[in-house]
Amino acid sequence: MKIEPISTPYDWLDRSLDSIHKANWYRSTQTISSKAGTIATIDGREMLMFASNNYLGLAGDRRLIDAAIAATEMYGTGSTGSRLVTGHLALHEELETAIADLKNTEDALVFSSGYLANLGAIAAIVGQRDLILGDEYNHSCLKKGGLLSGATAIDYQHLNLTDLTAKLQANRAKYRRCLITTDSVFSMDGDLATLREIMDLANQYDCMVLVDEAHGTGVFGDRGGGLTQALGIQQDLIQVGTLSKALGSLGGYVAGSAKLIDFLRNRAATWIYTTGLSPADTGAAIAAINIVKSENTLRQQLWQIVRFFKQGLQSLGIQAIAFDSPIIAIEMGDIAQTLKMATNLRENGIFAPAIRPPTVPTPRIRLTLMTSHTHEQIQYLMQCLQTW
Ligand SMILES: Cc1ncc(COP(=O)(O)O)c(C=O)c1O
Repeated sequence: MKIEPISTPYDWLDRSLDSIHKANWYRSTQTISSKAGTIATIDGREMLMFASNNYLGLAGDRRLIDAAIAATEMYGTGSTGSRLVTGHLALHEELETAIADLKNTEDALVFSSGYLANLGAIAAIVGQRDLILGDEYNHSCLKKGGLLSGATAIDYQHLNLTDLTAKLQANRAKYRRCLITTDSVFSMDGDLATLREIMDLANQYDCMVLVDEAHGTGVFGDRGGGLTQALGIQQDLIQVGTLSKALGSLGGYVAGSAKLIDFLRNRAATWIYTTGLSPADTGAAIAAINIVKSENTLRQQLWQIVRFFKQGLQSLGIQAIAFDSPIIAIEMGDIAQTLKMATNLRENGIFAPAIRPPTVPTPRIRLTLMTSHTHEQIQYLMQCLQTW
């Protein structure tokens, strides 16, 4: 007797995974078993880390570790509830005051991640009668925030102010509120938004602006306040960011006017209906902010490393998308070739993964630099790139 294969409602998973493999889009995790730093043990092997967002090396800094331990000793491991119920600690208030000071804003609100900060803020600020104009290369959470809000979301071409202006002209009058959204430092390209010009357009067309400083905070500005601070932008705007990159902890934030923050406390679902940030993450983030505000030398060292790498790559005739930030993306041709390059680097003890569609439109090797990289480590990386 022939037995019919039993089908289940989950069979589509095999087919989907199959298509992901066929398109070379399949991704998997690599296990790290060492402390954050320039040398990491990945899948049991020591490698040079050129992929971390730990730009200032703070994720492994003793002062952050001690602050996390002290916060845990004082408050315990969890914050036990949502912020409006039992999860609002004095430590959260301290962190929010520190962020507002770092960003030079009236107030700030801490979320469980940068992703949730963007989702919550965008979905609260605009709705079905509104328009979002966003850079096409904005991070996933800005785009998903737009979807969640129900607003009409239109992308403008990457960094293209002419396109943004044309889209404002064609659409602005049809909507109640308009929000322009942009990353300050584009996470997969490493180039920078022209924030002053965007602010001018926003004034002209009566728009709000939301800037995601995930990769700018700690890295730009005299006190590490981000690209907004480095450019001296004073106007009212909505600054979002993460505590998980240069600040070496976990969590996200929105910084802005007291009114905006008050409104978000009442309307941002990803803040209201979730547990407050853990004491350890909160304590570490406070320590990180104190360091980035006072230790400009960390940033100076980072920029020195960026310049050294830029000069080296240029002398080898290797092009990168930009050298404006510690994120250096090198386009390699097709997906298969980019994956081969990542494998080759890996065989040589360098961890710098291939980033490919659908995350980005063109495949590339994304390298990130850290304050703690040595010239020898950078030279070794260049040697491997050159050999390839
Ligand atoms: C531009 C940008 N925004 C937001 C996020 C999300 O931040 P988090 O990791 O804190 O969720 C990231 C993280 O990769 C990012 O690159």
